[in-house]
Amino acid sequence: MIIDGKKVAVDIRNKIKSQLEHFPDTKITLATVIVGNNPASQLYVGMKHREANAAGIHSKHVELDENISQKDLEQQISLLADDDDVHGILVQLPLPKHLDKQRMLRKIPPYKDVDGLTDVNMGRLLQGYKQLVPCTPLGVIRLIEAYDIKTSGRNAVVVGRSSLVGLPQVLLLSERGADATVTLAHSRTQDLAGICKNADILVSAVGSPALITEDFVKPGAMVFDVGVTRLENKIQGDVDFDSVSKIAGGVTPMPGGTGPMTVACLLENTILAATLQDVLPRSH
Ligand code: GUN
Repeated sequence: MIIDGKKVAVDIRNKIKSQLEHFPDTKITLATVIVGNNPASQLYVGMKHREANAAGIHSKHVELDENISQKDLEQQISLLADDDDVHGILVQLPLPKHLDKQRMLRKIPPYKDVDGLTDVNMGRLLQGYKQLVPCTPLGVIRLIEAYDIKTSGRNAVVVGRSSLVGLPQVLLLSERGADATVTLAHSRTQDLAGICKNADILVSAVGSPALITEDFVKPGAMVFDVGVTRLENKIQGDVDFDSVSKIAGGVTPMPGGTGPMTVACLLENTILAATLQDVLPRSH
């Protein structure tokens, strides 16, 4: 089975669109920031704007020079933080090497942090009272829900320990309600294939092209490919789709799997952020 992220993402976007149609006088705005001219970042942010606009969410974009100082970057973020017409702020990562991501993130108010990456939102997730959580791992959870995949008591393996995906994914799969038994594997893990083969649910988020082959997959397992590597003539995920799809119960394609879900969950988070700011009513 192909786990069709594109379709589920369109469903989420359309649901948001019809919710917003009840509030024609409310203008919800997502602000995005790119520092420098990373072509992948341009592409991703372009998609985020297109999808936001298709859902009825307004957007604003700020392009900053590659060589901007930390102080000037933080000043730009503070302008968006103080702007009552901006409800969500997303700074596309990675930043150029001379900039400090953590210090930059502290300028984003937690209630506008649609990426869920600030210390406060990460802390909330860890403490079990989550609000805005990172879009990519949330997208995997939304796919699990959409396909009615059982997680309770099942073994999940997450490959990759980034704060953007791997770590929050572990928390979202193991929290009460999801109740999976989660193993976090990474670049120093021994016998990675053996560990992965134990997974009923396998999420790979390392950026190692075609790392996950059929030898890593238990028959019937659900496999979520989050890694993205740009090869010369194609985009390759962490999952070797052709071999894995023969043995897995379900697998996300690349493209068309977890990527569109990241964008859909960004829209979902923007609506939640507007709700936290009382721009939308709390129950609608
Ligand atoms: N770069 C790659 N993925 C992401 C993401 O989800 N959010 C941001 N801000 N940057 C990214």
